[in-house]
Amino acid sequence: MAADTLNAGNNRIVTYLRLSVTDRCNLRCRYCMPPEGVSFVPHEEILSFEEMARVVRLSSLHGIRKVRITGGEPLVRKGLTPFLKTLSSLEGLDEITLTTNGVLLEDYARDLKNAGIRRINISLDSLKPQRFLKITGRDYFDKVIAGIRAAQEEGLSPIKINVVVMRGINDDELLDFAALATEKPIHVRFIEFMPIGGKNGWRPEEFVSIDEMLEIIRQAWPLTPIESGKLDGPALKFRLGKGDGEIGLIGALSNHFCAKCNRLRLTAEGQLRGCLFSDQEIDLKGPLRSGAGDDLLLELMRRAVETKPENHNLLRRGPRKCARLMSSIGG
Ligand code: GTP
Ligand code: 5AD
Ligand code: SF4
Repeated sequence: MAADTLNAGNNRIVTYLRLSVTDRCNLRCRYCMPPEGVSFVPHEEILSFEEMARVVRLSSLHGIRKVRITGGEPLVRKGLTPFLKTLSSLEGLDEITLTTNGVLLEDYARDLKNAGIRRINISLDSLKPQRFLKITGRDYFDKVIAGIRAAQEEGLSPIKINVVVMRGINDDELLDFAALATEKPIHVRFIEFMPIGGKNGWRPEEFVSIDEMLEIIRQAWPLTPIESGKLDGPALKFRLGKGDGEIGLIGALSNHFCAKCNRLRLTAEGQLRGCLFSDQEIDLKGPLRSGAGDDLLLELMRRAVETKPENHNLLRRGPRKCARLMSSIGG
């Protein structure tokens, strides 16, 4: 095992840390939270930014190159921009990015840019305000659109729009979303609906595979595959038509990218997860708060990498719903 990486005995190389900074959110997306709502974790149970910065610093010395800040909704946590500045000052990280629902982005786009963020991903599942309200439980469509504009004005690029595709809910908007990708520098990513969070309402009838999505999009535009770069996520990428437009498809269930998965996740409560779909977690908060040295923290991170599966087999074995809510893992 190389001392400067988080490689474990299973030879998995982890270069990407997804850091959920809060389980709180200003939306209630139907695929993420149960309709009756959720109780949020008390503030003292959430890692402090100092604790998170320690983990990021340590992991950046041991192979992590990219950090993605997620939530819940990361922009609802106070003090996020100074924290991002701290991360930007760390040597060794190639990229710090953020996934946001865009609701507060109009207020924060400039701060994000000043804190060293160069690009962001934004969740948006409908281009119809009424439908947006139905999916997210909040009437904030206009805010998100204003947020996307503000991010464009700040030159954050590319902006990736994440669309969770659900049959009978928003699958009739595939082509409208794809058309957005012809406006450089917006990339649109279509995501398979995942059964995460016990009561997230996942039903096989609502599941649309990326193959089916591709079929539909191909009827409107010729698609040319794009090679994935080293630090790229699991999206299958295509050029759209003759222009520069780019779309991505994330086949979280149908396309088993587990064997190539290079991520480690840290939940807002300080639990390390080797796999989005597994409830196996390794506690980092306890050791962090009881004076653990760097060696122990590194050992725990390696243990989490060791839990990474070769294959989640979710479609074949029947989707098992992982218990933890998506909002506290951060996707
Ligand atoms: P890029 O760095 O821009 O490629 O982003 P990303 O795809 O890594 O991050 P983002 O937060 O935008 O995630 C988009 C979607 O992909 C979300 O629905 C995530 O849950 C899903 N996703 C990201 N990483 C994984 C993964 O390792 N496994 C699975 N199953 N889904 C993932
Ligand atoms: N299935 C697929 N994607 C999901 N996301 C949240 N919950 C689910 C789910 N059940 C996505 C959000 C966001 C990203 C971090 O995760 O839309 O873009
Ligand atoms: Fe909030 Fe993201 Fe969950 Fe929607 S998917 S409720 S924006 S955490």
